Amino acid sequence: MIARRSFVKWALASAFFIFTFKFLKVTKSETKNSVTIDLNNLSNNSVYLIKNRQIAAIRMDNNINVLSIKCTHLGCTLNVAGDIFKCPCHGSEFRLDGEVIKGPASKNLNEIDFKVENNKIIIYL
Ligand code: FES
Repeated sequence: MIARRSFVKWALASAFFIFTFKFLKVTKSETKNSVTIDLNNLSNNSVYLIKNRQIAAIRMDNNINVLSIKCTHLGCTLNVAGDIFKCPCHGSEFRLDGEVIKGPASKNLNEIDFKVENNKIIIYL
């Protein structure tokens, strides 16, 4: 019964993230040294991937974090799969807070400097 509940929780979280990614429209602008995301468009409990910069902005329980999505194993760009980051190359998995949960990667994801100002997330590259 516990396994079934866990599966249901996992399925609901996955459905939420898929829905969020499908309909999330985020305004962003980029310069050589920074990327700016409109905070109003990054809804709570969602992740926004900036794949060309290998960066993810994560907003969970109204806490914002920015992580590198460059796999700490050999550098592939991670994808979001439900409520984890997953590497398409060799299968490493990371929680959305960057903690590695499955190898071959052994190091957590790197945090990226950012600040929130005037309702925008400014990410420093
Ligand atoms: S590059 Fe990600 S697991 Fe190997």
